[in-house]
Amino acid sequence: MCGIVGYIGHREAWPIVIKGLKRLEYRGYDSAGIALISDEGLKIYKKAGKVTELENFAAGKNLSGTAGIGHTRWATHGAPSDRNSHPHTSNNGKLTIIHNGIIENYATLKEELKTRGHEFKSDTDTEVLVHLIEEIYKNEKIDLLEAVRLALREINGAYAIVLMDEEHPDQLIAARKGSPMVIGVGDGEYFIASDATPIVEYTKNVIYMNDNEIAFIKRDELLIKRLDNVVQTPYVQELELKLEMLEKGGYEHFMLKEIFEQSRSIRDCMRGRIYPNEGKVQLGGIKEYADKLKNIDRIIIVACGTSWHAGLVGEYLIEEYARIPVEVEYASEFRYRNPIITEKDIVIAISQSGETADTMAAIEMAKERGATIFGVCNVVGASIPRLTHAGVYTHAGPEIGVASTKAFTAQVTVLTLMAFYMAQQKGTLTNSKLVELLTELDCIPDKIQVALESNDLIKEIAGKFKDSRNCLFLGRGSGFPVALEGALKLKEISYIHAEGYPAAEMKHGPIALIDEEMPVVVIATKNSSYEKVISNIQEVKARKGIVLAIVTEGDTEVRKMVDYCIEIPDASEAFLPLLATIPLQLLSYHIAVLRGCNVDQPRNLAKSVTVE
Ligand code: G6P
Repeated sequence: MCGIVGYIGHREAWPIVIKGLKRLEYRGYDSAGIALISDEGLKIYKKAGKVTELENFAAGKNLSGTAGIGHTRWATHGAPSDRNSHPHTSNNGKLTIIHNGIIENYATLKEELKTRGHEFKSDTDTEVLVHLIEEIYKNEKIDLLEAVRLALREINGAYAIVLMDEEHPDQLIAARKGSPMVIGVGDGEYFIASDATPIVEYTKNVIYMNDNEIAFIKRDELLIKRLDNVVQTPYVQELELKLEMLEKGGYEHFMLKEIFEQSRSIRDCMRGRIYPNEGKVQLGGIKEYADKLKNIDRIIIVACGTSWHAGLVGEYLIEEYARIPVEVEYASEFRYRNPIITEKDIVIAISQSGETADTMAAIEMAKERGATIFGVCNVVGASIPRLTHAGVYTHAGPEIGVASTKAFTAQVTVLTLMAFYMAQQKGTLTNSKLVELLTELDCIPDKIQVALESNDLIKEIAGKFKDSRNCLFLGRGSGFPVALEGALKLKEISYIHAEGYPAAEMKHGPIALIDEEMPVVVIATKNSSYEKVISNIQEVKARKGIVLAIVTEGDTEVRKMVDYCIEIPDASEAFLPLLATIPLQLLSYHIAVLRGCNVDQPRNLAKSVTVE
């Protein structure tokens, strides 16, 4: 969490940094701050709240300077306030730093620094780091780069930092361990950011910094070394990101744009990977492991949040088609247990951002115990794809709304492809069955387009549900993770309490909540559990609950017994999660809008959770 941006070059830094912070606001929006260096020295502007509040606060002030650093914060140490906002400065006020991550041993360091006369102005761990750098710089009589390097060797935890020195206005120092950092290479200028989105409109040439690297950046010079002092040759790569991917494209919110992009994003995700006529799936990213897949005993899926829900769909699909036992684990629980992992296991780590701290820690643990790790990530070049042995990108394109939508359906698509690929290797599906399934999968993007056509109807239904205080989502089989995801979407962006439940489990608790004010959303499409779900609907109706059913188009039976119906195109059970998720995303979107909530930046949440 937290977004960082830096610039040094020949242009004014403020507009570049502030625009960059707006692009990174998905990473946190508790406060924002920018430091600029010019001939007049160091200037710092910071403010609790969103980036626009910083912009308003700084309007009319002196914002000149061709070097600058900026930060958008998701608070960990210290409340969201002006004084805890980054950048933070050293005791003498000359060094200033921005930081994404957590310094775990900050309390001990702070006490020690206090005994040496350091006075602290904030409650943050970050301020301790800049004081520590200053202390080493002052005492050791070394250059600043070396002082930063030595200070970082004393730090436990995760960081991406950028540091400026008022006495050396022509340089920036950046470093990373565990938190992402990209350097954009321009002509006589460099850009630094937590991801490439603030950089793409200025240059396509980027360097993804590796853990334990430190960069010394001047307008015409870049030196990268490791913390053990070994100089590195930077690998410059070309960005595939396009600017229009980062804009709302006429939609009121990024979330709505991303919901409507799903037909395209799922197609992009399948492109070059399925050959329906031949009944063949090709996944270049894991093909080296094709033989291993033939003999594995077990797959463990680790993930958090929405990605964990995709994992549950994956479990259903892999067990159904490839007949491999699957366990789905919350990364945060898995990493602190003592799980049994063997060299025969394959662990699939699912993450949109490719940065989630708990997922990364789970991967590291499983790797140490000899498992093979596959990643299913959306952000190209992020930390998780670089930690894993192999993987399959989801290629959904940048997802900016904090509530995940197109990334979820792309994850489910990749897991569907993986399930079919594994089935192909193991011979658990006949070629003719694969032809049939892949032919149907190929048509799913068109069916998603049809599902999206219910938008107006869903908006109308949202009006009826918008004042609810609670909501229950029920599903069976692969409809259960869809119910969980529907409930998560609603609570994330509309702050209505919502729970997802396996429909039959309702009798063991949630049924007690049902009365004439309780909306119950039921996935009641025509599949193997259709009849059972109908019984569950009857049970809800008998207790006067209000039922909204997601049904297969043309359904008349469920329609007769429920209050509201939303149709989705008919599809095999394997593809139900992809289609049934769409109306639930739209439902929570419209409810949140009608309640006046900030859809793209819901309170307390961040898109990329780089702290545990
Ligand atoms: C946060 C986001 C969720 C996301 C989860 C896991 O909570 O708000 O949308 O599902 O993190 O993130 P990941 O990037 O690992 O998928």
